[in-house]
Amino acid sequence: MVTRRAAVNSARYAANFATRDPIVPLSALLETDAPVLVFGASGQVGDAVVRRLLEGGRQVVAVSREARDGPAGVTWLQGSLDAPPPLPAGVGVVFSCGPLDNFARWYAGAAPGAHQVVAFGSTSAETKAASGDADERALAGRLLQAEHTVLETAARRGASATVLRPTLVYGVGRDANLTRIASLGRRLGWFPLPRGATGLRQPVHVDDLAAAALACLGNPVAAGKVYALPGGERLPYREMVARVLACLEPQPRLVELPPALFRLTARAARLAGRGAGLAAVVERMGVDLVFDDVPARRDLGYDPRRFSPTTAMVTPPRREA
Ligand SMILES: NC(=O)c1ccc[n+]([C@@H]2O[C@H](COP(=O)([O-])OP(=O)(O)OC[C@H]3O[C@@H](n4cnc5c(N)ncnc54)[C@H](OP(=O)(O)O)[C@@H]3O)[C@@H](O)[C@H]2O)c1
Repeated sequence: MVTRRAAVNSARYAANFATRDPIVPLSALLETDAPVLVFGASGQVGDAVVRRLLEGGRQVVAVSREARDGPAGVTWLQGSLDAPPPLPAGVGVVFSCGPLDNFARWYAGAAPGAHQVVAFGSTSAETKAASGDADERALAGRLLQAEHTVLETAARRGASATVLRPTLVYGVGRDANLTRIASLGRRLGWFPLPRGATGLRQPVHVDDLAAAALACLGNPVAAGKVYALPGGERLPYREMVARVLACLEPQPRLVELPPALFRLTARAARLAGRGAGLAAVVERMGVDLVFDDVPARRDLGYDPRRFSPTTAMVTPPRREA
């Protein structure tokens, strides 16, 4: 359903709609009145990107599949990457904080005149490429192909594109990793892990990702590059879980069980049509998934925080009534 406000916005921009905008010059990127287009702005990372853009005085045009409102400075348009609403002409920069494969398809087909694209992908493009799970391998393949499409399309158009690959994202209680661990720990009063879950992880805070995304703006060094964006600390999976549980009150116990028991549980869950991918997740808990942050530090001034979760960071935000 399209709300009145979204319809008004769409109509306003339809007047400016151009199927093939001229490329917006680099100088426009520095003008605060040139709108910035954000896909996935309602997500945990997109929200952090939008906040930073607004703090920098930028006008944001955000696309969502749902009707949304506020904050001031954001104009919401209703639509998706597969069926986008009419978009404003004169957009200098596009941020993609939603699914990269959908974005790549849209970007390759839509020919927006933006001079710069900053798109979030995932380190899963590497870590899941050789997974034992066919769905995970397919995901890795789609991510790699999408990265290639975005970079190649931008280069052909004389635009700049940068792909950012976060590791395991957390920070505002909206992630499907640490917040899920906290929720299960709260519910059970304990949290099960297989022994040997010592693979290194680098959880990364959403706001550090947003800072890196904005550091790409007008930055010629970042053009055509793919950056890994890991968190500021490498720690064993077990320790990562222990820190999450330690910030809950009352604190759930961490219970380590024989890995064979976990494999059996994963198999039973799969047979019951649930827990798809669980086996691959358990296998990976013993494997180091670490990424070099030096290129991002050097080119983007990336300086991610160490992993110090608080209750709020792993607690889902309250829904407004
Ligand atoms: N979460 C992680 O641990 C993690 C790790 C590595 C990389 N990443 C990547 O980082 C980016 C942001 O992740 P996130 O966790 O912030 O994602 P998220 O919270 O799941 O949000 C994704 C957003 O994408 C939008 N979206 C989904 N399908 C869409 C479509 N067909 N057309 C237009 N918009 C669509 C949704 O907006 P509406 O619902 O408003 O339409 C949603 O707000 C993604 O590219 C993700 O793959 C995430």
